[in-house]
Amino acid sequence: MNGIPPLDTLTSTMLANISSEVSTFLLLLLLLLLFTWSSFTHRSPVPGPSFLAGLGPLLTYSRFILTGIGTACNYYNNKYGSIVRVWINGEETLILSRSSAVYHVLKSAHYIARFGSKTGLGCVGMEGRGIIFNSDVQLWKKARTYFSKALTGPGLQRTVGICLSSTAKHLERLQDLTDASGHVDALNLLRAIVVDISNRLFLRVPLNEKDLLMKIHNYFETWQTVLIKPDIFFKIGWLYNKHKRAAQELQDVMESLLETKRKIINESEKLDDDLDFATELILAQNHGELSADNVRQCVLEMVIAAPDTLSISLFFMLLLLKQNPDVELKIVEEMNTVIENSDGKIDYESLIVLESFINESLRFHPVVDFTMRKALQNDNIEGTKIAKGTNIILNIGLMHKTEFFPKPREFSLTNFDRTVPSRFFQPFGCGPRSCVGKHIAMVMLKAILVALLSRYTVCPRQGCTLNSIRQTNNLSQQPVEDEQSLAMRFVPRKTRPPHSQL
Ligand code: HEM
Ligand SMILES: *[C@@H]1O[C@H](CO)[C@@H](O)[C@H](O)[C@H]1NC(C)=O
Ligand SMILES: *[C@@H]1O[C@H](CO)[C@@H](O)[C@H](O)[C@H]1NC(C)=O
Ligand SMILES: *[C@@H]1O[C@H](CO)[C@@H](O)[C@H](O)[C@H]1NC(C)=O
Repeated sequence: MNGIPPLDTLTSTMLANISSEVSTFLLLLLLLLLFTWSSFTHRSPVPGPSFLAGLGPLLTYSRFILTGIGTACNYYNNKYGSIVRVWINGEETLILSRSSAVYHVLKSAHYIARFGSKTGLGCVGMEGRGIIFNSDVQLWKKARTYFSKALTGPGLQRTVGICLSSTAKHLERLQDLTDASGHVDALNLLRAIVVDISNRLFLRVPLNEKDLLMKIHNYFETWQTVLIKPDIFFKIGWLYNKHKRAAQELQDVMESLLETKRKIINESEKLDDDLDFATELILAQNHGELSADNVRQCVLEMVIAAPDTLSISLFFMLLLLKQNPDVELKIVEEMNTVIENSDGKIDYESLIVLESFINESLRFHPVVDFTMRKALQNDNIEGTKIAKGTNIILNIGLMHKTEFFPKPREFSLTNFDRTVPSRFFQPFGCGPRSCVGKHIAMVMLKAILVALLSRYTVCPRQGCTLNSIRQTNNLSQQPVEDEQSLAMRFVPRKTRPPHSQL
């Protein structure tokens, strides 16, 4: 019996070997089953990265967090096509860049909510309040009527005059903003102009422009930082607290501006016939229509809307003008002709070249190049089943560069020579949840550009072009404001248009 292992040892070794083989086999089988099950349950006709037992959602979410929402959307649409399925924070998210699908969503009443981290939106005061990211449909609708009223109709008429005089006022103080080398921080000049216009249109309370702009800037940083963060982010104090504080600071400023406004209203004998936005909201609050928190958030969003979008668009436009001197020449010629024949009242409708330039700038280098929605109903978009609750991102920026336009990847006014059917060009969106400021934004862009370009031509620093400046694309496309690289020289034009009221 020597040399031969005892039978029970033998069997136990054999059994051990077998059982380890069996367990390996079983494990493999299990994995295989898991994979087929996951690819079965997550099989979908929509192209996009695969689920990979949960790895897919982790990878796509990481890309959104690390590179920014806008950058990630462009990556996925370029890689997988004009309808892509990804995951954000574990939630199924479709990115659409095909115009027919985008148009379907814009027009439909099933997509009037947005998505984002509830905790994050709560941090910036947007969860269930205000308008921009408010997904409480009833409250959003109510807020939207106040915004619409202020941003269309009689409100629009006052806009031109206020834009012209605000721009003129800030340009007169240009010396104060000019550094030793003769350069002006153009982006902050534009922000100051735009926030002054917003205040004069919607709030009408004396305020500290510089301080307010800094707080708006920090608020925006917080907003884009928290928008799609996982809940754990908000539990890490050293990461989260400074953002929380930045959001709170702007809310505090708004509260005190509103306090002043309430005093003004209280002290005035009788109110104007056409009430400004803040007054309307305060009256609504007095009648128990809106809560104090909601009023503060609505006013806050009205005040940040233009500085966050319009001033950056204008900045991009000034860069584009310098890169396309022939376009600048055409704009100035048209402007001078229209002003000469104007008898003091410029017909902004007849500034066709200027409008094509604005359109082409919004197409070629938009500040807002995507918009975030949520499906409130089951739906079907061109054969793709949409489950209720699916997140939707409309990649309008990419849509503008892949369909219809004759020179999609170039800056050229010829892109607007032909009338563009509306579904191919949607810089402000359309339908029930479109940019509620789309009309006033066009008026403001034109009036500010006329006031500026009739006095000055701008020269960015040597080598500073749209391609060379660093930019981020998280919530919107923004230049990185670290050094002096964004400064511009403002050179007075030799010939001022005659008898202008500018
Ligand atoms: C160049 C300037 C601007 C651009 C490119 C722009 C673009 C946009 C876009 C793309 C949206 C999302 C629309 C959608 O989801 O379909 C939006 C929403 C909005 N915009 Fe603008 N916008 C601009 C200026 C303004 C201005 C000047 C105001 C107000 C004074 C404003 C107020 C709003 C508001 C309140 C919303 C949210 C509407 C809602 O969710 O119901 N925007 N904007
Ligand atoms: C408005 O004025 C009245 C007195 O005229 C005063 O009692 C009331 O507290 C004031 N309200 C506000 C909000 O200032
Ligand atoms: C600019 O775009 C708008 C749509 O946003 C369009 O209605 C308008 O006709 C365009 N203007 C020109 C000059 O192409
Ligand atoms: C925005 O995106 C860039 C990448 O383009 C990233 O480095 C930056 O930290 C992001 N900023 C915020 C506030 O999320």
